[in-house]
Amino acid sequence: MRMVDIIEKKRDGFALTKQEIHFFIEGYVKGDIPDYQASALAMAIVFRGMNDEEIACLTDEMMHSGDTIDLSSIKGVKVDKHSTGGVGDKTSLALGPLVAACGAKLAKMSGRGLGHTGGTLDKMESIPGMRINLTEEEFIAQVNRIGIAIIGQTGQIVPADKKLYALRDVTGTVESIPLIASSIMSKKLASGSDCILLDVKFGSGAFMKTLEKAKELASTMVRIGKALGRDTRAILTDMDEPLGLAVGNNLEVKEAIATLKGEGPRDFVELVTNAGAIMLEQAHIASSYEDGQARITAAIKDGSGLRKLKEFVSAQGGDASYIEHPEKFPVASKIIPVYSEKEGYVRRIDSLAIGVSSMRLGGGRATMDDVIDMSAGIILNKKVGDKVGKGELLATAYTNKDDYEDVIKDIHDAFELEQSEVVVHPIVHAYIH
Ligand code: URA
Repeated sequence: MRMVDIIEKKRDGFALTKQEIHFFIEGYVKGDIPDYQASALAMAIVFRGMNDEEIACLTDEMMHSGDTIDLSSIKGVKVDKHSTGGVGDKTSLALGPLVAACGAKLAKMSGRGLGHTGGTLDKMESIPGMRINLTEEEFIAQVNRIGIAIIGQTGQIVPADKKLYALRDVTGTVESIPLIASSIMSKKLASGSDCILLDVKFGSGAFMKTLEKAKELASTMVRIGKALGRDTRAILTDMDEPLGLAVGNNLEVKEAIATLKGEGPRDFVELVTNAGAIMLEQAHIASSYEDGQARITAAIKDGSGLRKLKEFVSAQGGDASYIEHPEKFPVASKIIPVYSEKEGYVRRIDSLAIGVSSMRLGGGRATMDDVIDMSAGIILNKKVGDKVGKGELLATAYTNKDDYEDVIKDIHDAFELEQSEVVVHPIVHAYIH
């Protein structure tokens, strides 16, 4: 087999066989196939696409290019959740304890934040003592004991994606549904859960800018997951504004705690309740979506979700007194109000601009080596649909830096106002299963 024949076949619009996809992935990971040939094939896939069989094959080959996690020694149905990257997305920190409190098993590997999106691991590390590097044995034992563990990636998960994604990033080949779907799903499948719920974001700051594109990506991933034997479902959620009110590491942890106390913002509570309901159905704990919603709502009301968060934090070495007393989290030295210069109704809050602003205040990384200021970030004082008067507070910035004036202007400009009332849509736009 020759790589050039595979490239030409895809260039001319034909489907690749399992053997050809295997030859490509194996050869590329080993270093036998050079970057220039891999990028030529990636570009051919961008233009010609792939059918479902090819995408499932590519996902399977990528998944088996490295270690896969065996969770079979965890009793019960293992559920996992993946978000395609949001601003203010602290979902796992509230949703994980809630589904675990309801009896599901969440064995999750998470990532760090980069650019305008935050990462669950960084948020966890804002709790003093919290360990994210459990061994595989500790990870499995903890899920068996308390129903939840969230850690960083262990071993060599999907090295093919690491190499291919870096190449796609610099060759204009990121935007291809077969390549995005196989990249995300290979990592999720390698992490070993029986069920996967995907939260596919669309809008500003998301990979997919439109609902239609997000639907296409979500349904492709659901089909791949099912073809490879996992109960895979997806919800489509919009990023016309950041999720909840808090953006920034310890600010988001405090919001997750408040949510588990029944004091969460509307959109975040809605997302957690919907996602949780689906995960409980997937785990065969809830008899229906409605039953799942009722169980999640009850776990907020009776405090069992909050107790599970404390248990989870303690189990991973964290100081659970911070969950009991969130006022213990350090607060940034500068708290800057952002006032509106005009009146109107909030139509949209540019998530990308808010994410980048939070990063520039110290709350995120521009490069992987940057150190995060856990107390930096933004609290939104207005959300989409809210009425704003001239001179009223739009947001509050938290930073320890001195040069924040430009950022304050960007936060102000991220709010788009209009004169007539704005209808607020439910956060979940579609459910694909
Ligand atoms: N996220 C991934 O993990 N892979 C992609 O290709 C795009 C987004």
